[in-house]
Amino acid sequence: MARPQKHVFVCAQGRPAGHPRGSCVDKGCKPVGDEFFRQWQARNLFSTVSVAQTSCLGPCQAGPSVVVYPEGVMYTNVQVEDVNEIFEKHLIGGEVVERLRAPADVW
Ligand code: FES
Repeated sequence: MARPQKHVFVCAQGRPAGHPRGSCVDKGCKPVGDEFFRQWQARNLFSTVSVAQTSCLGPCQAGPSVVVYPEGVMYTNVQVEDVNEIFEKHLIGGEVVERLRAPADVW
């Protein structure tokens, strides 16, 4: 297996109703994760990009949260319609999508 150049972690954390931190599930991370997997497969990027769902990444209030390594770039409030841009600009083009980047006081 080739070692991927980039690792994408999509938060898939849920919490009980009324929990003070909320969660990315509350904010719609499921379809976002599904879209990452769909595009990853459609683009056949298995040898260069790894996509995985994960538990809480930290900025629950700003979810859905996605982090990309090795850059350590956190994207917040990621919507389904943003996933294509993350693939095109960042995962393929190597350019951070600044409009989705978490503010410095968040990450
Ligand atoms: S629940 Fe997703 S960042 Fe905490």
